[in-house]
Order: sequence, then structure tokens, then C-alpha cells
Amino acid sequence: MCGIIGMIVKPGALREPLGLALYKCLKNLEYRGYDSVGYAVVRADGSLVIRKSKGKIDDVFEKLGFLDVDGLVGIGHTRWATHGRPTDINAHPHTDCGGRVVVVHNGIIENFIELREWLESRDHIFRSETDTEVIPHLIEEFKRLGLDSYSAFKRAISVLRGAYAIAAVDLDTPDRIYFARNTSPLVVGFGDGVTFVASDIPAFLNYTRRVLVLRDREVGYATASEVRVEVVEPSELESSDPPSSEVVNYVGRVRLVEWSAETVSKGGYPHFMLKEIHEQPYALAQTLAGMVEQVGKVIDLLAGAERIVLVGAGSSYHASLAGSLFFANLAEIPSMTVVSSEAVWYVKAWGKGDVVIAVSQSGETIDTLLAVREARKRGAKVIALSNVIDSTIPRESDVAIYTRAGPEIGVAATKTFTTQVVSLLYMAATVGVKRGVLPSREFDLLLSDLRRASELAVEILSRVGDPAKRLAENVFAGSRSCYYLGRGVGLAVAMEGALKVKEVAYVHAEAYPAGESKHGPIALIEKGFPTLFIALSNEDAELISSNVEEMKAREALTIAVLPNNTKIRYLDNVIEIPRAHPYVLAALAVIPLQLIAYFTAVARGYDPDKPRNLAKTVTVV
Ligand code: F6R
Repeated sequence: MCGIIGMIVKPGALREPLGLALYKCLKNLEYRGYDSVGYAVVRADGSLVIRKSKGKIDDVFEKLGFLDVDGLVGIGHTRWATHGRPTDINAHPHTDCGGRVVVVHNGIIENFIELREWLESRDHIFRSETDTEVIPHLIEEFKRLGLDSYSAFKRAISVLRGAYAIAAVDLDTPDRIYFARNTSPLVVGFGDGVTFVASDIPAFLNYTRRVLVLRDREVGYATASEVRVEVVEPSELESSDPPSSEVVNYVGRVRLVEWSAETVSKGGYPHFMLKEIHEQPYALAQTLAGMVEQVGKVIDLLAGAERIVLVGAGSSYHASLAGSLFFANLAEIPSMTVVSSEAVWYVKAWGKGDVVIAVSQSGETIDTLLAVREARKRGAKVIALSNVIDSTIPRESDVAIYTRAGPEIGVAATKTFTTQVVSLLYMAATVGVKRGVLPSREFDLLLSDLRRASELAVEILSRVGDPAKRLAENVFAGSRSCYYLGRGVGLAVAMEGALKVKEVAYVHAEAYPAGESKHGPIALIEKGFPTLFIALSNEDAELISSNVEEMKAREALTIAVLPNNTKIRYLDNVIEIPRAHPYVLAALAVIPLQLIAYFTAVARGYDPDKPRNLAKTVTVV
């Protein structure tokens, strides 16, 4: 996730230099990413100023001093690296060879390698490692082929595949900012003598509240006083026809936002945790798009492993538990998970032939880092699975794979957990096929559900909010203790659900293998004791039925998260989720549990974004 901003102003419409206005807008987008920052301004004399660097917004602005740079059109970017490390060169904006087209982008261009090769074959010189840089070069190339600036922009957009929100300026048309959106958010703000394009509304809320939310495949340009929007259809790189397009009458869609600046930075949600829970469909789509491309880097290593050891802490430990089950069942490789802080007691047995997967959203957790160092010292190969490009764990590992879920501000892991699970699932299934143990028919079934993960998450979010809130308010908020029980990969989900309600709502929750519950935990059951079961398939439901009965016989309050039309008797409450491959549901079934934890915290009067005693990143042993 990155934040982009574009501003175009009439002479005299701003009472401050454009550089300062861009800085204020970028500060309001800082929550979207903060590893590098940059901007480009076209001065009144037509010259282009570009300044960019690795680092946080305030530090970079101070270092490069561009608050007083003035002009009538400018674009800016705050980066959360997805392609290419956070470096000065990879920071946006990016330009074409001639330095006349300048672009900022949020998203992932999936076909950038093909586009880059095509452009390089036509003598374009690339400076960065980013996917974004293909965009200015494409515009330049289509202009060379005879198109005017706007037609070249539309043609460039029509050959991009993937997610993007783009703002671009061409020195040949300095009275316009070009923009395009697909999947990544982009909004237009209509001010007095100034027009904005931005990733999110808070960017320009200090200047205007009149907003147009762009839709997928919408492309256009803004001047200081008007905006043109068209829908542009995809086209092929080699096609000689212009892409087909249709002008959009957007006037009825312009609305006045009433939110405060703080509410808006949370996208209208009262807390970041709720916002991030609701971002999961988008995060899953981003992760999967990235995985297909990244898994090639590790497939041979994993397929040749004698053993796979996963290490992680907290939610990353739970994702790792799901991961070791995937590798054992889909790829038939001996695999185990060790919680990072305990790894020290296992490392003596690690060595050549082992592949260690270090799972850490932040990439900085010290216990996981120490396990990585030990593993490498003993000759094991290490793959990092992280959400933060170039963080310490990826840097110190042999290979790094990124989840690309975007920054997570709430302390409790939500979207980073689900994206870790789907990443590990995709890796294990791909390795299973490579090793010839997962039949391609089964892989195809799994993959087709994995591809629907984002859509299924939307469905779950639209269905489970109310039941989760009712359970939170009527059951969990008034309970001191509860059980979360599951089997197989459902146990990892139960453990994650229990951790969520513990850490944000301060309700004691214990997760247990459902079959193990009668070997001790059942002693605690008394009337009304909340016992939540996870079943991800009919087979799980069959096995869990007897555990539900045992609990009910002791007057527990029984709750279950189940796929549609799954029959289990003696349940007091059921939260239904759509049917899909149980391993795909391992990522998605946690959503109702995240919501239960969130609403329980709110009902008990706690701030779920800042749980007591917890830090987002734990860098002490
Ligand atoms: C739970 C949570 C923590 C982290 C743990 C590991 O909601 O956020 O338990 O999962 O501190 O952090 P990373 O994944 O950054 O290594």
C-alpha cells in the first residue's frame, strides 16, 4: 500500500507554495506507507523539480527542503515498498527516458516484466527496480508512435494488468494531471481553483470536502477547473487499434463528506482494527497476485527440502501452524512449527537439508530473527515471509517472500494473519505439484477457491458482522473465560481467535484441540461457559459433533463457526461462512473471530487499536 497525491491549481488559488500543500497532503496519507517519499512539481517556467528519498516524510522533507518549491501542478507519493527495496532510486515519482513524463503509483503491475522487456527492446533505459517505472516509459513509447499525450496515457493504462492507482504529469500538457484506477483506491477532490487526485480522502480534507470516488478501470484527467473521466477497456501491447473507451457522466456521484479528518484517516471506521479487518478482501487479492510471481523464487528450494521448519511468534506462529499442516498434507514433506521464543531448544537438530520459513509480518521480531541466525549458522536455508520489504528478517534470510497486505496500524494482527495463511497455502500446494504428490485436478480445485478468497472474504464480512456483534455483546463481553476448540487446521484458527479476544478485549480465552478437550479442560465447564468450535468441512463437523455433545451435557454455551448447511446438533449459536476448500477457509474463518474480539473490546469500553501492555513490534527477547 502506498499513498499518492496530485494537485493542480489556478494561479493565485493557493495561499502557500505547492510544495507545502503537497507535504500536508502526504502527511495525511502517511498511514498508508512510510518507507520513502517523493514529489514532482512543474514550476511556472515549465521546468520540472523532482525530489525523492528513502525515509519518513518529515525527515525527507527536512533533508531535501522542498516545502518552498512552487508551481501550478505537482504529484507526490509516500511509499510502502512492494517491488524493489526502499531506496532513493526506487522512491516515486518515476520518469521516462526523456524526463518529461512523471508518474506516481500505488498497487502492483502484474505484467511489468513483460512490459519492461518490451520497452527495453525498444531502447528504453530503466533506472529503478520498480514495476511502476514501466508506466512513464509506456506513455513515452506511445507518444513516440504518434499519439497525443492523453491518448498515449490511455493506451498505456489499457496494457497494464493488476492493481493500480496512478497520477501522471506530462511536461507537454502541464495544465493536466492524468489519473487511472483499477482495484487500488483513488479519489478526486474538487476545491476552489484547485483539483486533487489522491489515494484517500484525508489527503485533501484541509482543502475541500467535495469528493468523487473513482471506480475500477476509470481513467481521465483533471485541470484546475474541470475533470474528465472515461472507462477504458484493456488492450494488447501489440495491437494497433486504440483501446475502446466511453465517457463517464460522474456528476451525480460527487458528494460532500461530513467526516472529521481523524475518522477519514480510518476510512470512516471507528478503529484501525475494524478498518483492517474490512481491508482483507483487498489485501488477499494483492497477496495472491504477488504470490504467483514470488513463489518461483523458492519452489526448488522447498521441493528439495528434507524437512521444513516454520518459526513465528503470536499470530505468525498460528499462521505457521497452518503452514506446517499444509506442507505435510499437500507436499508430503516432514514439517513442524516451533514458536520463535522456543526455537533455541530445537536448533541443535537443524542443519543442511532443512528449510526454515521465518514468518513475521513486521520482519523485526527479535525471537524470530535469532532463530533465523541460528538456522543459517547451522547450514539450513531460510525463507522469510514478511509484510515489510527489506526489514531485518528478510534481509538476513536467504530468500524473502512478501505478503503485500499493506501497513497494519492496529496492534492486533488481522489482515497480515490471513495473508500469511494464503501465502503458505499457495506455496505448499505449488510444491506439492512440483513434487508430483498433489494431483493437478486437486491443485486446480484448491486454486480456484484460493482465487475466490477475496470474494469469499467480502461475502463473510457482509454476513457475519451482526451475529459476531450480538455474540460479543451478549456473551463474550460478560464472560471471564472461554474455550476455542478446533481440529487440524481449524485448531490454528481457534488459537488465533482466542489470541484476538485475549489481547484486545482482555477476556481469558484458551484454545485447545477439540479432541483433547475431554482430557482436562472439560473440568472447567459449567452452565453458560462459552465454548466456540471451528469446523471447516463436513469431516471436521462429524468429528467435532461428539465434542459439542460432551460440552452441552455439562451445560456449556456452545457456539460454532461452520460452512453453510453443516449439521451439528446441540449448538446454541452458529456463525455460517460460505463453503470452500477447508484450507482456504483456514484463512477466512478467522474473520468472524476477529470481529467477535473487536466488538467485545468495544462493548467492554476498551480501545482495540491500543491494547494495554502490547507493542506492535517486539524487539526484546
Ligand atoms: C497478535 C500480534 C502479535 C504478533 C507477534 C509477531 O495479534 O499482533 O502476537 O503476531 O508479535 O509479530 P510479527 O509477525 O511482526 O513477527
